[in-house]
Amino acid sequence: MSDSTEPPVYTLAEGRPVQDPTSSVVLRGSKPRGGGLALLEDTQLIETLAHFPRERIPERVVHAKAAGAWGEFECTRDVTDWCSAAFLSEVGKKTELLARLSTVAGEKGSSDTLRDIRGFALKLKTEEGNWDFVGNDLPVFFIRDPTKFPSLNRSHKRHPQTGVADASMFWDFHNNNQEGAHCLMQLFGGRGVPASLRNVNGFGNHTFKFGKPEDGTFKYVKIHFRPEAGIETLSQEDAVRLAGEEPDYHVKDMFNAIERGDYPVWKMMLQIMDPKDAETYKWNIFDITQVWPHSDYPLVEVGKFTLNRNPENHFQEIEQAAFSPSNMVPGIGPSADIMLHARMFSYPDAARYRVGPNYQQLPPNRALKVYSPFQRDGPMRLDGNYGSDPDYVRSSFRKIRSGPADVAHDEWVGRVQGYSSEVTEEDFEQPRNLWKLFKETGEDKAFLHNLSGHVGKALPEVQKATIEMWRKVDKEIGDRLAQKLEESIQKADHDKTPPSQAVLAAHRK
Ligand code: HEM
Repeated sequence: MSDSTEPPVYTLAEGRPVQDPTSSVVLRGSKPRGGGLALLEDTQLIETLAHFPRERIPERVVHAKAAGAWGEFECTRDVTDWCSAAFLSEVGKKTELLARLSTVAGEKGSSDTLRDIRGFALKLKTEEGNWDFVGNDLPVFFIRDPTKFPSLNRSHKRHPQTGVADASMFWDFHNNNQEGAHCLMQLFGGRGVPASLRNVNGFGNHTFKFGKPEDGTFKYVKIHFRPEAGIETLSQEDAVRLAGEEPDYHVKDMFNAIERGDYPVWKMMLQIMDPKDAETYKWNIFDITQVWPHSDYPLVEVGKFTLNRNPENHFQEIEQAAFSPSNMVPGIGPSADIMLHARMFSYPDAARYRVGPNYQQLPPNRALKVYSPFQRDGPMRLDGNYGSDPDYVRSSFRKIRSGPADVAHDEWVGRVQGYSSEVTEEDFEQPRNLWKLFKETGEDKAFLHNLSGHVGKALPEVQKATIEMWRKVDKEIGDRLAQKLEESIQKADHDKTPPSQAVLAAHRK
């Protein structure tokens, strides 16, 4: 980009001005146009061609497709008596943030309106480092043991033989990992396809610790972001139509809303629990498949944020952005949730591979203040590399001051530290309560419509197991699902093999 009003002189990447950016240097024969020999001395041609195939970095293995924007967080409640996070230190205090809202299973070019969880990632640039909130639009997750994460995602993505998404694989995974029933209910309910990204919640899912390291006190906290525009959703039929007609429907909507000044706003709300209560609470608070009912722990508003600036350049500001639950600030700490610990390792690990080991120096990720001289060198270092400062700890030549302590770790770790893949009756209790709510609100019909449409694409033996899983949540769900699947078989044209069944033959070896 040029900073003068004069059009810039076009140059090669190392600044050499070039007369004609559109022509290769050619050793011509007798004909005036076309033909001849290209020359290795044509640096412009070589540089142009060589850079092009290197334009891509690996896309995120999950959450590849996204919209992103910059904005501002504002603290709206005094929490200083129990939390020392700097961005919450004063009512009215503002902090710059970057947001990235994504789908999960689809690749970078996939359609926005597919039924899927939406990722909700924020990076707040606080004076005590970046605080990243890396959440989803549903309050619970499919699994509670991190070892299952790659398998979960593969089962939602493409079949290894056919290369296409595969309902048999999807339901086979969930039939055998039934702790996901609660999350599946949310996914196949109305919220599985939002009307826009401006109409989604952001849930932290995990339990976090918010506290005052200076006196060793803390509370357990669940974090929620609620859209001021409210929750709005799309019907399955509209979602499917838009997936074809406008694959970038959500990304365009968010960009256009911000461009026209219709800035989306979310409120930050917390559920706050005293650590003593956690030990006797009915639900294991470190289990990411369970919520804390609002009747037990009501939402308390502590802040809000507004997205008010689109990126100038999507690749630089959104694709190269790297969010991680490990980016915490003094006053906020992890709880004893093994999923959270695994994520704290996995995201920086992914970013080192996807963007490079010095990704934290790039504009979207750079912290406001950073002095980290014991991480040096590496490819694409661009911050001065701490010059001649000592690169080893405890140097007597240049002293460093220590920062604040971490939020204290307590002794209690809850029950999740056993075998976290075990599924018990407890796993079906919250989904059963949600089913009762679906029936009260009339959402049960849409849920079964969405569910049967997807389960109906699986092999018959997988369908049977899926029906049995839903019977465990509530016999009525299983029975109604079985009936709907039966009806759709009767309606099907038996002269043709439906395409979804044809590829599923891959499972029957
Ligand atoms: C993205 C791992 C669970 C929300 C990612 C990425 C990885 C990953 C490797 C790609 C990161 C990158 O390339 O920059 C895991 C693991 C999990 C887990 C190992 C469980 C053990 C969750 C949960 C949530 C979540 C429970 C939400 C509560 C997200 C979001 C992104 C993401 C929002 C996209 C971040 C962005 O916009 O760059 N995850 N994840 N993940 N994950 Fe997870």
